[in-house]
Amino acid sequence: MHHFVLTLFFLVSTMLVDASKSLMGFSIDLIPRHSPISPLYNSQMTQTELVKSAALRSITRSKRVNFIGQISPPLSPSPSPSSSPPSPPSPSSSSSSPAESIITPIPDHGEYLMRFSLGTPSVERLAIFDTGSDLSWLQCTPCKTCYPQEAPLFDPTQSSTYVDVPCESQPCTLFPQNQRECGSSKQCIYLHQYGTDSFTIGRLGYDTISFSSTGMGQGGATFPKSVFGCAFYSNFTFKISTKANGFVGLGPGPLSLASQLGDQIGHKFSYCMVPFSSTSTGKLKFGSMAPTNEVVSTPFMINPSYPSYYVLNLEGITVGQKKVLTGQIGGNIIIDSVPILTHLEQGIYTDFISSVKEAINVEVAEDAPTPFEYCVRNPTNLNFPEFVFHFTGADVVLGPKNMFIALDNNLVCMTVVPSKGISIFGNWAQVNFQVEYDLGEKKVSFAPTNCSTI
Ligand SMILES: *[C@@H]1O[C@H](CO)[C@@H](O)[C@H](O)[C@H]1NC(C)=O
Ligand SMILES: *[C@@H]1O[C@H](CO)[C@@H](O)[C@H](O)[C@H]1NC(C)=O
Repeated sequence: MHHFVLTLFFLVSTMLVDASKSLMGFSIDLIPRHSPISPLYNSQMTQTELVKSAALRSITRSKRVNFIGQISPPLSPSPSPSSSPPSPPSPSSSSSSPAESIITPIPDHGEYLMRFSLGTPSVERLAIFDTGSDLSWLQCTPCKTCYPQEAPLFDPTQSSTYVDVPCESQPCTLFPQNQRECGSSKQCIYLHQYGTDSFTIGRLGYDTISFSSTGMGQGGATFPKSVFGCAFYSNFTFKISTKANGFVGLGPGPLSLASQLGDQIGHKFSYCMVPFSSTSTGKLKFGSMAPTNEVVSTPFMINPSYPSYYVLNLEGITVGQKKVLTGQIGGNIIIDSVPILTHLEQGIYTDFISSVKEAINVEVAEDAPTPFEYCVRNPTNLNFPEFVFHFTGADVVLGPKNMFIALDNNLVCMTVVPSKGISIFGNWAQVNFQVEYDLGEKKVSFAPTNCSTI
């Protein structure tokens, strides 16, 4: 009996140790792109110019989100990979609708960057961090047509751990049939279409992805056999930085890094974004976020029309004393790390902005710079209302710093603009919150935090 209890105790404690070991927690710096500490820092541009260009990118992002939501993807890529012309995809397999969840919206330039390493020996790259796409990818050699980048192209032949993903294997079949082909050595060739006229083609590979951890006193984290895209033909009608030349996808789909790390990170990651052009970094954390008592949580949904995005439900917005209701329950707003602005569906925007005008009650500036819609001048003696975004089950309280941007000429502009399609909750509103994505429980949590100090 005694022996049995001891054995049982031993078994249970071993299991506990193993469980805690598998929940790796580690953090990576999130670098604000416009900060003097960023490799993309441009000292020639003023703060106002930087904000305006980021706001225009935000509009582009919103248009592409809605493009993806409306139009089905085009047929297979016309250009063939240089060395190995792929055979045409087999016509036998059925509908591609579940697989359309892999279409990635255009990456644009994200406003926050992260470093990651790939291969053995590992090479480090600066990447755009994107919760609105799944596949992580970079440009590889040999390349047929690549956009210019400062770092050398990634060379899979120099990595002892690189393996092609076979075209009949599961990761490849996650791409819709008209967006994949089988290469001459049965490797998986994928196509990412971005809007109507931009795309990238590459081979799908497995390799070790690693991160050097910060602030945790650990050596970082290494994930062997992670699926990523090795692009060899890109044709973009938009500009991509020569310095940030990788994309890390943290969307909800099965190919995203968050989904691939799965159990190893307890199906959770979180980010904490510092203000635009701050001189400190925020954090991207894999594993549970630090416990705090001010957490609120809301379920996320996946909408087949916007498959690589986390969709939340916004029940209403309180502006000062007034509450604007959306009357919707089924998921009506995408939460996105890339655009700075919050884009509200036209009907909600109209009610929202009239409440804002009522609450602030000063003359609207006539010269709101594009794409801003509502600006006021001489803000020093204004009374800004408090804003509460009422997501289902989660009231997120936002102060003026999350809702307004200060520009030249004493202008202060609202960071919320109307959208031509679905609403998007942008990153300016999320600054100084820890935002956790729990892919297991399908929920997003918000905790107010000074992101410069974690
Ligand atoms: C890129 O695509 C455009 C049309 O979409 C085409 O005219 C152009 O030749 C392409 N460029 C390259 C380098 O393939
Ligand atoms: C966050 O902490 C930093 C460093 O302690 C401080 O300078 C900054 O004012 C704080 N920000 C906010 C919004 O409290």
